[in-house]
Amino acid sequence: MRYLRAQLVRILTQYFGDDDRRIEHALKVLGHAERIMLERSGCDEDIVIACALLHDVGIKVSEAKHGYNNGKTQEEYGPGVAEEMLGSIDFPAEKIEIVKNIIGNHHSPSRYDYAELAVLKEADRIVNRLELMS
Ligand SMILES: [Fe+2]
Repeated sequence: MRYLRAQLVRILTQYFGDDDRRIEHALKVLGHAERIMLERSGCDEDIVIACALLHDVGIKVSEAKHGYNNGKTQEEYGPGVAEEMLGSIDFPAEKIEIVKNIIGNHHSPSRYDYAELAVLKEADRIVNRLELMS
């Protein structure tokens, strides 16, 4: 999709506001996901971009509702927020379903064998590890 990255970065920045850490995290995951994707076959680029940038949007809902977030609550709240964001830019409905499945499964043992899910998990793991060290 044309300008998908730019559109999603704009939406994500509006959503997270001044929470620069979350935005930076998403951008780093996108960078690694795009690199890893090139080494794999069977990835849809738009799905990889959407998952990488939006995978943690459930954090904000979880923190507002419960005062904390964890892998389970991220998986619970993320897909609904991502659906709304992607719907607003006419992302194809069938791909929205896949992105929702991936975001709803990115912190637990894989229930799907989407190549894009494996890419997201690997990219997120790399960035989380780097962030722990910094
Ligand atoms: Fe993440």
